[in-house]
Amino acid sequence: MTDALVEAALAVRLNAHAPFSKFQVGAAVEDSTGKIHTGCNVENATYGLTVCAERVAIFKAVSEGAKGFRRVAVVADTETLTPPCGACRQILWEFCGDVELVLSNLHGKTETIRLGSLFPRAFDASFL
Ligand code: THU
Repeated sequence: MTDALVEAALAVRLNAHAPFSKFQVGAAVEDSTGKIHTGCNVENATYGLTVCAERVAIFKAVSEGAKGFRRVAVVADTETLTPPCGACRQILWEFCGDVELVLSNLHGKTETIRLGSLFPRAFDASFL
C-alpha cells in the first residue's frame, strides 16, 4: 500500500543539497488538516551549518502556520532505516510531541515507531 507521506519524503529527497556527505535525506510531516510539508537536507561548505531534512520540513511547516502534526516520514538510502539525529529529535518533540514516525528506505522497507521511544525523558516546555 502506498503512503502519500512516504512518497512525499521520497520525492523531496531528490532535492537534497548534499555534495559533501552524498547522503540524501527526505522528510515529510502531516499536519492536523492532512496537509503534507516536506524538507530535504541542506548542507554547507562550513559543514556545521548543515540542516537536516526533518528540521527543514518542520520549520517550513511551522513558518506557514501549520500545527498539530500527526505523522512524520523520513527516507534515506540505507538498509538499516535512518532515524532522526539527536538535534532533530529535540525539535520534533517541541512541535510534534510523541508523534508517529515512519522510517523508510528506497527499497520499500518501512517501520513505524513513536518519537517517544527514540527520545525518552525529553526536556520540554513542561519544565519551564
Ligand atoms: N541527515 C538528515 O538530514 N537527517 C537525518 O535523519 C540524518 C542525517 C543529513 C545531515 C547531513 O546532510 C547528512 O545527512 C549526513 O549526516
